[in-house]
Amino acid sequence: MVEPTEQDSEQTAPQKLTEEREFEKILQFIKSSFKLDLTSYRRNFVFRHLRSRMHDVRCPTASRYISLLQEKPEELRDFVDTLSINVTHFFRDADVFGTFAKTIVPEIMKAKGDGEQKLIRVWSAACASGQEPYSIAILLKELFADKPQILIKIVATDVDSDALARAEKGEYDIRDFRETDKKLLDKYFTPVYNKCYRINDDVRRLVRFQKHNLLTDEPLKFIDVIFCRNVMIYFSREQQDLLFRKFHQGLGFNGYLIIAKVETVWDKALFSVVDSNHKIYQKIA
Ligand SMILES: C[S@@+](CC[C@H](N)C(=O)[O-])C[C@H]1O[C@@H](n2cnc3c(N)ncnc32)[C@H](O)[C@@H]1O
Repeated sequence: MVEPTEQDSEQTAPQKLTEEREFEKILQFIKSSFKLDLTSYRRNFVFRHLRSRMHDVRCPTASRYISLLQEKPEELRDFVDTLSINVTHFFRDADVFGTFAKTIVPEIMKAKGDGEQKLIRVWSAACASGQEPYSIAILLKELFADKPQILIKIVATDVDSDALARAEKGEYDIRDFRETDKKLLDKYFTPVYNKCYRINDDVRRLVRFQKHNLLTDEPLKFIDVIFCRNVMIYFSREQQDLLFRKFHQGLGFNGYLIIAKVETVWDKALFSVVDSNHKIYQKIA
């Protein structure tokens, strides 16, 4: 496989520009033909993987690669897999979910007071194929098993329609459960066929999936907790700043934001740190 950074440094400026134009053509083709917008990801990141993929499938030009995508549309999934942008699993970083359940949820419920009915609203932003929102639903179901007066609403969004279709289907390979307690797997999933499990309807009905672009669409509003994990690493610093402003608008008073361990909230005026280890933040009013 070509070492992309080496090739980068060998290129002259005009060569680089030509290559970038070719790559842009491919991204536009993918956007218009497959409705998958890869143009919001950091260019260097996408280009590096595109260069490497085109080398592996022996397509030296944009037109050759576009022809390949037309003849063999499965190529798109293979390319996207090389970006690892859809990678996820149930209870990814289980300690974060544990802290959410033990510390954050009780704080949210306390702040809601003693009313008859209470609603907790969670937004799983960039939910991929649904493992994150279903994990949250399972956790909340476990926590509120004997509290029917507490209503749970989870809105799960992603820009990728294929990922959302997989989420709606709710069938998962056993490898997706590597951080899942066996008791929860048995309780909330039904084995369907060879090492595959389907989410049960009592969990499924707590989650509503919706197509949504984090960078261009308006944020959801009046949210108690936003999970947005393992997506902003692919965005530029400006895009991340925009996203934090949107999340600030989307959260209700004192709402929480949970990001991935490798990610950081830059703007200290918008959010205070609640748990730096688990990357949990709280909205500053
Ligand atoms: C690695 S997955 C993260 C899944 C889950 N949050 C987790 O941490 O396991 C990243 C997801 O971000 C989605 N994504 C990328 N750009 C997006 C955008 N601009 N708006 C919404 N979702 C986006 C991708 O489609 C992908 O499903």
